[in-house]
Amino acid sequence: MNNVKHFLFFFTNFFSKIWLTKKTEAKSALMNKKSESSPLVCFCHGVTEEEICQAIKKGCHTLELIQNETLASTGCGGCAEEVKRLLEENGVESKIK
Ligand code: FES
Repeated sequence: MNNVKHFLFFFTNFFSKIWLTKKTEAKSALMNKKSESSPLVCFCHGVTEEEICQAIKKGCHTLELIQNETLASTGCGGCAEEVKRLLEENGVESKIK
């Protein structure tokens, strides 16, 4: 019975590591592809400048709305100033709190 448990533990661990590695590689490839067309603003969530500008055009005129729409600035928060700069550049600075 112990051998079966060990086998199942090994089997589950082995495939979950492969799955996580593949998932990370896929996310990394997607982020690289996206950042080729537009600079990456949010590294935590792989959000580009173009995606943020699109969100602003759709009516997301506050940092909170940009966060809800794109997930930018919802991780470490390091890109918040860059998102605010993009809001200002797109003429919605008066709505920033
Ligand atoms: S870089 Fe955007 S939340 Fe971390």
